[in-house]
Amino acid sequence: MTKITWKPGTMLSPLPPAMISCGTLEHPNVMTAAWTGIISSEPPMTYVSIRPSRFSHGLIKESGEFVINLPTLSLITACDYCGVKSGRNTDKFRDMNLTPAPCSQVKAPQIEESPLSMECRVRSITNFGTHDMFLAEIIAVNVDEHYIDDKGRLDLEKAGLVAYAHGHYYTLGRNLGYFGFSVNKKRLKKQQKAQKAKTERPAAKSIRKITAAMSAGKGNRPTAAKMPRKHYGKQKSAQKA
Ligand SMILES: Cc1cc2nc3c(=O)[nH]c(=O)nc-3n(C[C@H](O)[C@H](O)[C@H](O)COP(=O)(O)O)c2cc1C
Repeated sequence: MTKITWKPGTMLSPLPPAMISCGTLEHPNVMTAAWTGIISSEPPMTYVSIRPSRFSHGLIKESGEFVINLPTLSLITACDYCGVKSGRNTDKFRDMNLTPAPCSQVKAPQIEESPLSMECRVRSITNFGTHDMFLAEIIAVNVDEHYIDDKGRLDLEKAGLVAYAHGHYYTLGRNLGYFGFSVNKKRLKKQQKAQKAKTERPAAKSIRKITAAMSAGKGNRPTAAKMPRKHYGKQKSAQKA
């Protein structure tokens, strides 16, 4: 592999094109932000980096609250729209038929159509060049009950979550395994067995079958005709081929 070194850039991908709702139920606004992530598990802390020129910047600075809504395939047009139009000039909730729904802890609305919305309270605002980072605590999480399984676990596989990578939106692909699957002993054993079966010579397999049948008292002693060729007589030269 030959890699070419580029000048530094924001190439981390994929990221969630999060829909950040803010303002109030009566005057809601929503903007799209990909510069977001998790800072700490306990307490659950997040951040969103917003340019001071965004309408949302002023709203969030004033209220100290915002909501991170996860976008889905059915929300993707609204998600992009909220990232190119400003709430200064239009009501994006109305334009995109989004429903502002009340939250439990903050005055900012959540997007009812999103399967998961995190209510956030701002702890600090720090400037890092072009963007101000709003560091915030996640104080409540609202999940569409449709995605909670019988054991109470969150299962968003069918929600159609989307990712943002280098200027494009994508749906998520195949489920490749769960957290820690690589060290699951049962799974490892199964994998090793499958690998062994794949690499084992077919002739060796048939010999094992015949020997097993003989020791179980089934069938007669195998004749030359019954024995697999590669293992009868000219084994050495057969293995060379
Ligand atoms: C996919 C995508 C990701 C974006 N990420 C950010 C971001 O992280 N921070 C930011 O300030 N603007 C981001 N924007 C741009 C704002 O969403 C956009 O300027 C929006 O119109 C601001 O809305 P507002 O003026 O109503 O706040 C993004 C836009 C798109 C389409």
